Amino acid sequence: MTRKILPFILLVAAAPVALAAPAKAPTMLKSVSVQLPADVHVLPDGPNVKVVHDNCTGCHSPGMILAQPTMPKAGWEAEVNKMKNVYKAPVDPKDIPAIVDYLTAVKGPK
Ligand code: HEC
Repeated sequence: MTRKILPFILLVAAAPVALAAPAKAPTMLKSVSVQLPADVHVLPDGPNVKVVHDNCTGCHSPGMILAQPTMPKAGWEAEVNKMKNVYKAPVDPKDIPAIVDYLTAVKGPK
């Protein structure tokens, strides 16, 4: 019984304190400027660039892809399959080899 009544007693006891709290100053809105980081919006030209743009830039920018470390072909293959299978990127399986070739050419080991 006491366990049920105690929260009620505390609430009633605290109410006058809460009601007597001084009014806060009204929130003022003011303009600010934000400097966003520079991002790359276009993939470097090369064979199959269009298929990569079409399949990969719906969810993130080209800059995000280009910011990754270089990987061998098998790494890019795994990456594209991860996008398709884990993140549900609507990649047509027949486009995967072209995408992997482009990524290996642009971000493969030199
Ligand atoms: C359906 C949305 C979607 C599409 C389309 C997509 N991705 Fe992603 N991608 C993601 C998500 C979600 C992440 C994870 C982001 C994070 O961890 O912040 C990601 C992360 C990445 C990463 C960072 C490394 C990693 O594994 O987290 C790379 C590289 C990448 N994507 C490449 C690609 C490529 C190449 C394509 C085209 C085949 C592609 N993405 C298409 C959703 C997508």
